[in-house]
Amino acid sequence: MKLGVNVDHIATLRQARRGKYPDPVEGAILAELAGCDSIVCHLREDRRHIQEKDVYLLRKVVKTKFNLEMALNEDIIKIALDVKPDQVTIVPERREELTTEGGLDVIKFSEKIKENIKRFQENGIKVSLFIEPDLNQIEESKKIGADYIEIHTGRYAEAENESEMYEELNKIIKAVEYAVSIGLGVNAGHGLNYKNVGKICKIKGIEELNIGYSIICRSIYVGIYQAVKEMKEIIEKNEKENN
Ligand code: PXP
Repeated sequence: MKLGVNVDHIATLRQARRGKYPDPVEGAILAELAGCDSIVCHLREDRRHIQEKDVYLLRKVVKTKFNLEMALNEDIIKIALDVKPDQVTIVPERREELTTEGGLDVIKFSEKIKENIKRFQENGIKVSLFIEPDLNQIEESKKIGADYIEIHTGRYAEAENESEMYEELNKIIKAVEYAVSIGLGVNAGHGLNYKNVGKICKIKGIEELNIGYSIICRSIYVGIYQAVKEMKEIIEKNEKENN
C-alpha cells in the first residue's frame, strides 16, 4: 500500500504570516526522500493554503507522482490542464468548511463530472473521484470513466465509539471489494492518523492512502522526514501482519 503525503498544511502555516516559509515544496522533497510514493495538494478556490505558484513548482520538483486535489471550478480546471499533474482528485468544496467534509455526489453531478474526466484524460491526466463508501456512487464512478476512486475515510476516523467505528470500517471494506471487482483503482484517505491507519492498511485492494494533517502535525515535533518514515513503517508493518 502506497503513501501519498498531502502538503497543504505546510502552506497553512506559511499563510498564517503570508510569508515565504515553511515551504510546501521543500516539505515535498523531504517527504519523497523519506519514502512517500506521491505528493498531494489541494488548490482551493479561496487559496487559503496552497497557492498557484506552489502547484507549478511542485509539478517541476515532484519525482514520484503529483496528485492535485481540486473542485470542478472552471478557473481551477484551466490551471490543472496547464500544470498537467499525473493525477487529479476531484473533491466537493464549500468555502465555509474547515476541510473537505464529504464525498462527491457522482450520481447527481454525473454529466458534469463525466465531461471533465474526458478533458483530463485527453491531456494524459488520470482522474480519481473522492466519494463515500457507497456502492451506487462507486458504480456511477465506473460508468462515467474514472480511473480511480478515493474512499472517504473521515466518518471512520471520526467515529465516536467502537461499534460506530466498525460499522464505518465494514462499509469501507465492502466498498473496496466492490470497486476492485468492477475494475476501478482504489485509494483512501481523510482523517487518517498514526493510531487509526492500521485497520485501513489491512484492507486488501487499496492502492494508496492520502494523508496530510496528522503527518504535518507530527512534523512539528520530529521533522517531516521522520514523520513520513514513521507512517510508512506503520503501513508496512500492518500489511505484513495481514499476509
Ligand atoms: N484525501 C482528500 C480527498 C482530501 O481532501 C484530504 C484533505 O485535504 C485528504 C485526503 C487528507 O486528509 P487529512 O489531511 O485529514 O489527512
